[in-house]
Amino acid sequence: MTTQTPDSAPPQDSAPNFYLSGICGPVEHELTATDLPTIGRIPEELNGRWLRNGPNPVGEVDRPDRHHWFLGDGMVHGIRLGDGRAQWYRNRWVRSDRVAHALGEQPPGGPDFGNRSYLGPNTHVAGFAGKTWALIEAGGTPVELSYELETLGRNDFHGTLSGPFSAHPKYDPATKELHAICYAWPDLVDSLHYVVVDQNAQVTKTIDIPVPDMPMVHDMSLTDRYAIVYDLGVTLSFERMEEGYNLPFAWNPDHECRVGLLPRDGAASDIIWCPVSPCAVFHPVNAYDTLDGKVVVDLCRYETIFLTDKLGPFLDTAPTLDRWTIDPAAGTVHEQQVDGRGHEFPRHNPRYGLREHRFGYTAELDITRPAVHGSTHKIDFATGQVTSHDYGSAAGGAEPIFIPKVDSKAEDDGWLMVMVYDAEKEASELHILEAADMAASPVARIMLPQRVPLGFHGSWVPDSSVQPL
Ligand SMILES: [Fe+2]
Repeated sequence: MTTQTPDSAPPQDSAPNFYLSGICGPVEHELTATDLPTIGRIPEELNGRWLRNGPNPVGEVDRPDRHHWFLGDGMVHGIRLGDGRAQWYRNRWVRSDRVAHALGEQPPGGPDFGNRSYLGPNTHVAGFAGKTWALIEAGGTPVELSYELETLGRNDFHGTLSGPFSAHPKYDPATKELHAICYAWPDLVDSLHYVVVDQNAQVTKTIDIPVPDMPMVHDMSLTDRYAIVYDLGVTLSFERMEEGYNLPFAWNPDHECRVGLLPRDGAASDIIWCPVSPCAVFHPVNAYDTLDGKVVVDLCRYETIFLTDKLGPFLDTAPTLDRWTIDPAAGTVHEQQVDGRGHEFPRHNPRYGLREHRFGYTAELDITRPAVHGSTHKIDFATGQVTSHDYGSAAGGAEPIFIPKVDSKAEDDGWLMVMVYDAEKEASELHILEAADMAASPVARIMLPQRVPLGFHGSWVPDSSVQPL
């Protein structure tokens, strides 16, 4: 376990909110820029959009000493690549009632599960079923965006989503479905939902999974056989609510941590719960079934989170990269640390989703650096070796998105797209790296017209999947 408390992160309640300043600080304007300056050569087969969502509060925040990073208004940043050029950059708030009011616009329309229209999706953005979706957990309805990132309105999968959704659905390339484990406070106080969405963006299955304590279930994993449920150490906290914090979830040392294997064709009563050591996990890398009936999942594991840091995820412990081998027959989990450095925002070659992978890619989480993130790591799970691309002492890379080359054969034959922030220059660049050669200089560096705040998740959305209109 690594505990990091940098000099730049003074105790909360007596200092500015770490998550509203520096790299996390919001930008104030929506911009459109064309023909972005670029160093190097953008691969010509990259035709589409790099997209990224993250919190960017509009206007002043009420009670900044109680404001949690996860509850900032969503803003999507996008860069369109085509014909070897960076054709445009746009950043747009995802319209919610609050954002629309602040900008003097009409609020967006559409269904609104649990009356959450005050907060737009701020966590992920992806292409699916020919559309661009902004996503959030905890019950917020997905929002459909235009190709140019304007909000079109909330979309509950065309009237088929009866409850909450997730910011981290998993795509099954064989069935072309999305699978999600969803929670919603206060709508689902004693259960989670397992939701399946077909390739036409229609919900085809919802299963109610009973759980105690109302855990925060940020992500899930999927294999050919199982939907994997992470019932871990962060749960609903009335104490946190009474203290006035706007995110009512906290570390719960009394919650029994476990991982559940729900057979994809089974009922909730078929779930196989396996105990694990106390921990929290936001993000798994990938998961797959083994020939002997076990399940392997690699993930970023926190010893504790939301314990002393009540405003965000960075100031308790740094997450290590671990491998869990789950034996459903024995009901056990073998936990093994792969690398003890701080790893977050893991990605992998999407062609290896649900299959055995060799490589994963993460953002080094090192809050002693002014960019919060540091190097981009490549992990070889076959050898345990980690190779890195470093951006210098004042700069760091966020979530590394892997794009396989069109004719690639090797698993690591592809590019990594990484948003890089340089704290000294207060500037951001999108770097394109050769994943097979982490030490090499970037293939291309695309200069942005403004800083891109540290956000959450994004996607490479090729024009072949979501077409420009
Ligand atoms: Fe996430």
